[in-house]
Amino acid sequence: MAGITNGDFCSGLLANGFDMVTLGGYNADPPTMRAGREILSRGRPEFDIPPKDLTEHIDQQTRQIKDQDFWNGKISVNLRSVTPEPIIEISRLKNVDVVEVNAHCRQPEITNLGCGQELLRKPSSLEKFTKEVVQKAKSMVSVKMRANVPEVDDIQIAKTIEKTKADYLHVDAMKPGFDTADYDLIKRIRDATNLFIIGNNSIKDIESARKMLSSGADGISIARAAINGTLSFDLSQI
Ligand SMILES: Cc1cc2nc3c(=O)[nH]c(=O)nc-3n(C[C@H](O)[C@H](O)[C@H](O)COP(=O)(O)O)c2cc1C
Repeated sequence: MAGITNGDFCSGLLANGFDMVTLGGYNADPPTMRAGREILSRGRPEFDIPPKDLTEHIDQQTRQIKDQDFWNGKISVNLRSVTPEPIIEISRLKNVDVVEVNAHCRQPEITNLGCGQELLRKPSSLEKFTKEVVQKAKSMVSVKMRANVPEVDDIQIAKTIEKTKADYLHVDAMKPGFDTADYDLIKRIRDATNLFIIGNNSIKDIESARKMLSSGADGISIARAAINGTLSFDLSQI
């Protein structure tokens, strides 16, 4: 979660049993950084890290997490960028296990740049972008997509990501108008691909977590239910 999930926030959640934490989203190049400052100025949380400091900043956040000796999970970093290079650069950091291409953000300042969920509208550009990250990254690669964006074929996107050989597809299975995830979409992506699916959206208790897994997700992710730095349910019960 932009402006929230830094090293401090993630470190506080490790004892809950997560096997991966995600830092960011960070804006990783000058155009997205400018967009981030515009978003901040209208009151939405964002990380505002100057371009020259970003790599060092992320390195520090990862070291803070890995310093917790009892935890040996993975660190992912969610990144928005107009071009693949800044994402590839972050993948070279020693403690970064996964870089995540953000094809999810719907803030207009970001989508106007062709970034975030706008990438879903041009599957061939998303494929080229992700392939370049996969080929050059030193870490594993995830793509985070938002589901049910008008005029986007989610199954086509999932198949496109499978072609790029990305390691994870992280699906915010948002179902507009509902406060539950679109479990049927997760089932359809499961049937259509062999991707490692991280299912996300509205997981707030054991039941919703189990439902995501039984729909075909290989893992789950949790955002808003952890926003105050704790979880109200025990992950080990899933
Ligand atoms: C304040 C806030 C900031 C967010 N920032 C990001 C982001 O930078 N990158 C991203 O991929 N998702 C971002 N998300 C989306 C969440 O990661 C998650 O996909 C979404 O909230 C649905 O999951 P949940 O129901 O568990 O919250 C953000 C969500 C919130 C509430």
